Amino acid sequence: MNDSTRPLFTAACAARANAHAPYSDFRVGAAIAAGGKIYRGCNVENAAYPQGLCAEAAAIAAMVGDGVKRIDQVMIVAEGEALPCGGCLQKIAEFAAADTPLTVATPAGEFNRGILRDYLPRPFAL
Ligand code: THU
Repeated sequence: MNDSTRPLFTAACAARANAHAPYSDFRVGAAIAAGGKIYRGCNVENAAYPQGLCAEAAAIAAMVGDGVKRIDQVMIVAEGEALPCGGCLQKIAEFAAADTPLTVATPAGEFNRGILRDYLPRPFAL
């Protein structure tokens, strides 16, 4: 963990604490550095399962709702060394460059540090 990832890790953990995950019991927090701020989100599940929202999507919605469309760095925190899903990587790719730093952590600390291209080598693009 370095000086730029520590505040993102703290924000992602705080968001994760607010996760609404009564169905999967799998809590996820995401934090995005963009436009000089940190935008955070958690997963928000629903009794109608497909209506649930991933943490990354919630953080992106907060960012875009604030008028910011360029992601500088991403941090995702979940248990079990889970990597972000393909759909969320595609959502991140909409607003990030191939070399945008993306770190994945458990609450105990980071375990996978890379760039977007490492996780999603060939995003869909029009
Ligand atoms: N989840 C995320 O929030 N982000 C991901 O990248 C993968 C999965 C959530 C969705 C659901 O609420 C729970 O994790 C279990 O799939």
